[in-house]
Amino acid sequence: MENDSHTTSDHSECAQPTDLRRTRINPDFWYPLAWSRELGREKAIDVRFAGRHLVLVRPKNGAPYALDGLCAHRQVLLGKGSVQGDLIRCSGHGLRYNRDGQCVSPNVSTKAPCLRLKTWACREKGGLIFVFMGDQSLADKIPFPDFPKVEDRKYRTRRFGEVVNCHYSFMHENLMDMNHQVLHSRLVGKMKPRFLGMEHGDDFVEACYTFARTGGKQPLSEALIYGQRRPDGRDFAYRDVMTIRTQYPYQILRIETQGIEEPVMELWISYVPQDREELTNRVFGLLSIKRLKVPFLLDLAWPILVAFTERVFFEDREIVELEQAAWKDLGGDHNQEVFPVINQLRDLLRRCGQAE
Ligand code: FES
Ligand SMILES: [Fe+2]
Repeated sequence: MENDSHTTSDHSECAQPTDLRRTRINPDFWYPLAWSRELGREKAIDVRFAGRHLVLVRPKNGAPYALDGLCAHRQVLLGKGSVQGDLIRCSGHGLRYNRDGQCVSPNVSTKAPCLRLKTWACREKGGLIFVFMGDQSLADKIPFPDFPKVEDRKYRTRRFGEVVNCHYSFMHENLMDMNHQVLHSRLVGKMKPRFLGMEHGDDFVEACYTFARTGGKQPLSEALIYGQRRPDGRDFAYRDVMTIRTQYPYQILRIETQGIEEPVMELWISYVPQDREELTNRVFGLLSIKRLKVPFLLDLAWPILVAFTERVFFEDREIVELEQAAWKDLGGDHNQEVFPVINQLRDLLRRCGQAE
């Protein structure tokens, strides 16, 4: 009888020591949990991190704050509540909490001082609301992420992202592995990547690539990014350098090209586990594109760029979700990875994350 090539035993000799897809993300970092635009003044929303509910509140005055997302009374979702001045009011029985998580409803609070919610360090920057998800005593010591191009007027930034049904490690690997150009060949033409080298340290892996177009026409969106029409790909082969860095737990992609001082594109991206098993993640991406010499040209062409990046993201999403589905079907990770950069990245994600 023929063997079923998808049985676990066929792959077990080469199985990884610990399954990367069971590695929990390290909570001792600042994670974006929502876009600023999602949280209007005197509004509250429910957000999640690795199965835990939090409520983000933008009070009448001052900065937003974050509390545990389930009411201390009977665990109704506080994101369904209403904001009254600086207080969040539960939609269940109307208890009100202040930004210190203390229940301040008259009578109740004195009778039940235990009605309080855990508070979480919260900061807003670049159109994102960040929460420190680990040991709160570390919040001020852990560096806050930096994405200078977002505030730079020479750039325009697209904020994008949605929930992707896979473990965050698939996202890191997908972006770092530029050998997946075949996936995007219908959108960008035939691109031949050349790996230039990598660097790695305790908390990062960085890989550099350059590309040559070996077939197909340059898409308009690419011309907008480089500020240059490139009718014959051969003249421009290997002139642009793409650097991808996982600086745990974030990722940064940068494209530089000859003759332009600053990067023509910079992407800062974070993947935030949603469910307890961490097999879904919400993407928060800040894609900054350098403005062209002709004023407003980038603004005029913005919808084209948005549509293009959306389609690229759709293709990437499809592939990582297929990989995750295979992991579920097979009951574990059977990747036979041969590219040293990706193996280095997998080690980093295991080392910096938390074993199950
Ligand atoms: S569940 Fe919130 S007040 Fe009762
Ligand atoms: Fe891709």
